[in-house]
Amino acid sequence: MAPRVKLVVAFVFAAVVVVFQVGSSAELPRLEHPPTKADGSLAVLAVGDWGRRGQFNQSMVAEQMGIIGEKMDVDFVVNVGDNFYKNGLTGVDDKAFEESFTDIYTAESLQKPWYTILGNHDYRGDALAQLSPVLRNLDSRWICMKSFVVNAEVADFFFIDTTPFVLKYWNEPKNDTYDWRGVAPREAYIANVLKDLNAALKQSKATWKIVVGHHAIRSVSNHGDTQELVQQLLPILKANGVDMYMNGHDHCLEHISSRDSSIQYLTSGGGSKAWRGSFTPNTDKLEFFYDGQGFMSLQLTKTEAHLAFYDVAGTVLHSWGLTKGTYY
Ligand SMILES: *[C@@H]1O[C@H](CO)[C@@H](O)[C@H](O)[C@H]1NC(C)=O
Ligand SMILES: *[C@@H]1O[C@H](CO)[C@@H](O)[C@H](O)[C@H]1NC(C)=O
Repeated sequence: MAPRVKLVVAFVFAAVVVVFQVGSSAELPRLEHPPTKADGSLAVLAVGDWGRRGQFNQSMVAEQMGIIGEKMDVDFVVNVGDNFYKNGLTGVDDKAFEESFTDIYTAESLQKPWYTILGNHDYRGDALAQLSPVLRNLDSRWICMKSFVVNAEVADFFFIDTTPFVLKYWNEPKNDTYDWRGVAPREAYIANVLKDLNAALKQSKATWKIVVGHHAIRSVSNHGDTQELVQQLLPILKANGVDMYMNGHDHCLEHISSRDSSIQYLTSGGGSKAWRGSFTPNTDKLEFFYDGQGFMSLQLTKTEAHLAFYDVAGTVLHSWGLTKGTYY
C-alpha cells in the first residue's frame, strides 16, 4: 500500500497548491501545475461528453483511460464539458456526481486533477453546483471553473467557457432552460472572456499554448463548426500563435488542421454516447475522424508534441507528432 499512500499525499499537495494559486482581479484565475517528471515533460488525457452512469460505453472508455493513464503516468485530465447528462446536476447533493464521475473513473492513474469546464448540458441544470467547493470535498480531483488557466510550465492550458457564446441557447432555448446566473448579460460576459483570454495568451511564456473549450471551432460531425467561435474566438487564437484548440460537444474523435495557421483542432467528445452518423466537411484539412467512443492523449516536451486517439478497447486509432510548427 505504501506507493499508493505516497501518491495520494502527492496529489493532495498538488490540489492545495492549486487552490491557493487562484488569481484575483479581472484576470483569468491561474492554477500552477508544476511538472512532476524529471525531464519536465507533460502527459495528459482529454475526454468529454461522458456523464451517463457508466452507460453507452462510458465505463469502457473509463477503463481504457485508466490503462493508458498508467502507461503514460498522466499528470492530469483535461475534461472538456458535458459532464452530466441530460441536464447537468440538480444541485451539490445530486448523486449523479458520484454515479457518473467518482464511481466510474476509479483507476489509480486517474486520481489526478480533472481540470473541468462546463458544457451546454451542464448549463441546463444547476451550473453553479458544479463550481462549488462542496463537490471538491466529495472528490478532490474535481477542479471546475468557467474560464481559467493551468500553467504546466511546458504548456499553458487556457480553459474557456464557450456555452454563453452560442446565440441559439439564448434566443431559441426550446424546452431547455439555461442557468445564466453569473453570465447574463451575454455580450458583456463574452467581451470579458475574450479580453481576459487575449491578455493571458500575450503573457504566456510556455512553449505550447493550448486553448480548451466545450464547443468545436471546426468539426465535421453533427454540430459542425461553431460560427460564434469562428468569428469571435478564432481570430484571437490565430493572433497569439495558439498551437491547439481542444473541445468536445460532438460525440466523436477528430483532428483537423488549419490551412492558414499552426492551429490543430482536436475534438475529444467520445466519453459515452456516440455514433451520430453525420459528416459535413469544412474548408480546413481533415486529418482524422472517428464517429465512435474514445479519448485522447497528449505528451509534450519543449520541442515535441505527441497526440493519440483511442477507442473503447484502448486501440490507437490515430497518432501523430509535431515539433513547433512542423509535422514529422
Ligand atoms: C460500444 O462500443 C462498441 C465498439 O466500438 C460498439 O460496437 C457499440 O455500438 C458501442 N455501444 C454503444 C451503446 O454505443
Ligand atoms: C416541448 O414541450 C412540449 C410540451 O410539453 C412538447 O409537446 C414538445 O414535444 C417539446 N418539444 C421538444 C423539442 O422537446
